[in-house]
Amino acid sequence: MKSERFSKIGFVLAASGSAIGLGNIWKFPYMTGENGGGAFVFIYLFAIVFIGISIFLAEAAMGRLSRADSVTTFESLAPKNGAMWKYAGFMAFTGVLIFSFYTVVIGWIFKYIYVVLTDLPKNVEDAGALFGNMVTTDTTGQMAFYTLAFLVSFYVVSRGIKRGIEKLNLILMPLLFLILLFLLFYSFTLDGFGESMRFLFVPDFSKVTPLSILSAVGQAFFTLSLGMGTIMTYSAALPKDANLVRSSFSVAFLDTAIAIIAGIVIFAIIFSFGAEPSQGAGLVFISLPPLFNQMDMAGVVIGVGFFIALAFAGLTSAVSIVEPTTKYLTDRFGISRIKALLVLGFLTYILGTLALISNIEALKSHVTFFGKGMFDLLDFSTSSILLPLGGLIIAIFVGFVVEKERLIRLLGDQMPKAVFNTWYLLLRYVVPICIVVVIANQLFFS
Ligand code: TRP
Repeated sequence: MKSERFSKIGFVLAASGSAIGLGNIWKFPYMTGENGGGAFVFIYLFAIVFIGISIFLAEAAMGRLSRADSVTTFESLAPKNGAMWKYAGFMAFTGVLIFSFYTVVIGWIFKYIYVVLTDLPKNVEDAGALFGNMVTTDTTGQMAFYTLAFLVSFYVVSRGIKRGIEKLNLILMPLLFLILLFLLFYSFTLDGFGESMRFLFVPDFSKVTPLSILSAVGQAFFTLSLGMGTIMTYSAALPKDANLVRSSFSVAFLDTAIAIIAGIVIFAIIFSFGAEPSQGAGLVFISLPPLFNQMDMAGVVIGVGFFIALAFAGLTSAVSIVEPTTKYLTDRFGISRIKALLVLGFLTYILGTLALISNIEALKSHVTFFGKGMFDLLDFSTSSILLPLGGLIIAIFVGFVVEKERLIRLLGDQMPKAVFNTWYLLLRYVVPICIVVVIANQLFFS
């Protein structure tokens, strides 16, 4: 099991499959809508380029050097105090928290495959009501789809890197890309297209708040799957001659392209229908179905294709969210993947159920903490706090603890010296300072 490796293209695809997920198509558009558009996108892009890509490469280098699970990676790469550093590797358990609410959303997507086939809402108001009712009243239906999403994800992970994860990505990522491109071309014809472009790309900095900066930075981590050892764990299975630098840029580029395309399409529809961009978590579910309805039969085909591809984009990410803890349990305790997954599955299934219940009007009071429902709490605490914190630790570890010689030996041939030095400088100073400022700003000054 330990020596299982990706093929070269398999790694880029799997890492992109991990990165490209609900974060791009569900979360990015709705966060942009909630945070006022262009200024949020601007900060997000800045965070991807300067913080995201640096940490991505740092995680990839760590995994490639150690070829081990996250805990062992920290332990073995620290020249001294490995016994202390190993605790940083427990950042992998953030995955348990993310996975719980992530699968609830995949459940919504499963349900929407069915909605497209049976009863597409005609306008944005109907679509809003349909989504709202599902989330706030339909416990049984949501539980059924959630359970299905949960079982499918765990089945794929149980089959391991090559036969499960890599194969799934090879087939479905291109399909998702094609459908999105089609929708993008379609959106050119919509009245709201111009307004969508203005909303996304003309920044209004008066809308920036400490919380929106934190959200943009958090989203950069979330969308690139950073800050909890996913990229580290996947990189442990890299083929020997893979080019980490090129892979990091490719993944970041593809991931950003997909988020932006999804944003353009969704806001073009929203503005064409005169709907509100700040609808929150229901945005994709509310904006797209009325459009599919308008396109008649073709809309059903494209709609089903879209939600199936989105479900798979979600699944390829879900897989990568549990893989780090799975690898930790199998490699450190010598138990089988199945056993590890049973343990993790038990935890996440309970947490996910609580997250689902926290949106149900009649039951939510039982699962509200600090004024936030369990669902929002899991989402906020992971994206906005735990992932940036994980990124901070990774930046400091690679910038100050891992011997520079080893990094040069690994990456020296893959980028010009000036680029290496810039990356190293970003990791040591710029990234940690940005993360600390952003988190502190949110905690103390808002
Ligand atoms: N990046 C994925 C998305 O955008 C989610 C994801 C997968 C993730 N693995 C992760 C997020 C690890 C944080 C950490 O949907």
